[in-house]
Amino acid sequence: MSRFRDPQDPLFAAMNSSIGFDWRLAPYDIALSRAHVRMLAAKGIIASEDQQAIDAALTVVEEELEAGSFEFLDTDEDIHMAIERRVTAIAGDAGARMHTARSRNDQVATGLALWVRAHATAAEKASESLCAALLATAERHIDWAMPGYTHLQRAQPVYLSHHLLAWFWMINRDRRRFSRVAADSRLAMPLGAGALAGVNFDTDRRMVAAELGFDAVAPNSIDAVADRDLALDLLAAYATCSTHLSRIGSELVIWSGQEFGFTTMSDAWSSGSSIMPQKKNPDAAELLRAKAPRTVAHLSALHGVLHALPLTYNKDLQEDKEHLFDAAETVEQSLAAAQAMIETTTFNRERMAEAAGDDLVAATDLADMLVGQGVPFRDAHGAIAALVRLAVDSNRTLAELSTDEVANASPLLVEGYAAAIAPGSALESKQSEGGTSLGRVREQLGAAHAALAAKP
Ligand code: ARG
Repeated sequence: MSRFRDPQDPLFAAMNSSIGFDWRLAPYDIALSRAHVRMLAAKGIIASEDQQAIDAALTVVEEELEAGSFEFLDTDEDIHMAIERRVTAIAGDAGARMHTARSRNDQVATGLALWVRAHATAAEKASESLCAALLATAERHIDWAMPGYTHLQRAQPVYLSHHLLAWFWMINRDRRRFSRVAADSRLAMPLGAGALAGVNFDTDRRMVAAELGFDAVAPNSIDAVADRDLALDLLAAYATCSTHLSRIGSELVIWSGQEFGFTTMSDAWSSGSSIMPQKKNPDAAELLRAKAPRTVAHLSALHGVLHALPLTYNKDLQEDKEHLFDAAETVEQSLAAAQAMIETTTFNRERMAEAAGDDLVAATDLADMLVGQGVPFRDAHGAIAALVRLAVDSNRTLAELSTDEVANASPLLVEGYAAAIAPGSALESKQSEGGTSLGRVREQLGAAHAALAAKP
């Protein structure tokens, strides 16, 4: 029976249907139905024979879904209705009692919270494993010099390990963000809120919550069915993570170009060109770079869906899913790809050392040497700038300038000049905490190991 006389317009049915994507909620929907029905029987709301019949039918549904033999009908609006229809077909009357004391509104909010928990945990694990790969790669290249950049101009030399550890800390923050979302997904179970106002039965929400791994039940039935914060939080964590991955991808693209020649991507993570036989393109790193705006757009779109949306449930909320699902697929794939790329990329020690050997990158160190002798930093900066101009204008390195020329910039420079511009000296003088000197990088590796071993 239905209150409607006329059938749905097929175009509306197509627009309204979410089964094409929300089938991903099936395992969570089955788990929450099992817990709900067990509680209904424990509270005497349904008979325990009915509970057993429903449970057995849910097992059949689970097996059919796994085997791919579950038959979806055109009339199944979403996965929740499809499962209930099939349970009723198998268990008859008992199945028709499954939806007692709940609504699709608290049901879908709960299923989604469980899905968020699983995927936040998956992303946490994937970022942890990328962090481990970055740490191992940093350890293998601990004392390899390279130029550090600002504005993509050579700035000051650093160790490759230090740069790889910068990537490590960036991804380790993502790991923490995902772990917080997973923890939040346990805070407040929506189920039992009913459509929006609560239910007319003496239910035990805490029993269901405990079975589904929630620490507590949502304290307000209106908020419970209207809230999509977990979806926003996970999308925000995805967006930040894929933005981070885009920066790593971008550096891999730049470093692998012939002008840099710092890295060689493995064949497995490169493609050829359809016309230029010599080409080996870093497509995978480029895609890592370009996936980020897509993920950020999903976050922005869900903000749009929720903006000014009156409480409680509105069908608008069904539009939370595709954004979440696509972002999850994108970021889970990107994290795994980034890890494989890092593990298989080779670094070119000579090319990096050569670029880091440009002695102009020691200019700050020369200025600091004057500061050490009492010259105010601004004046020191000016004296060294004059020296740099002289070298650049005469197409010489700083090492090639004569003692007279150096003394002319400042007599205080002469004594320590050669040592300050010697290769490696600018690296080892960065002894400040968090700096690039080897001692500090070793200390940092220890901190990174500790961070990785700790619960985020
Ligand atoms: N497929 C719906 C969704 O994803 C389930 C909830 C439907 N509730 C309703 N009152 N129509 O949001």
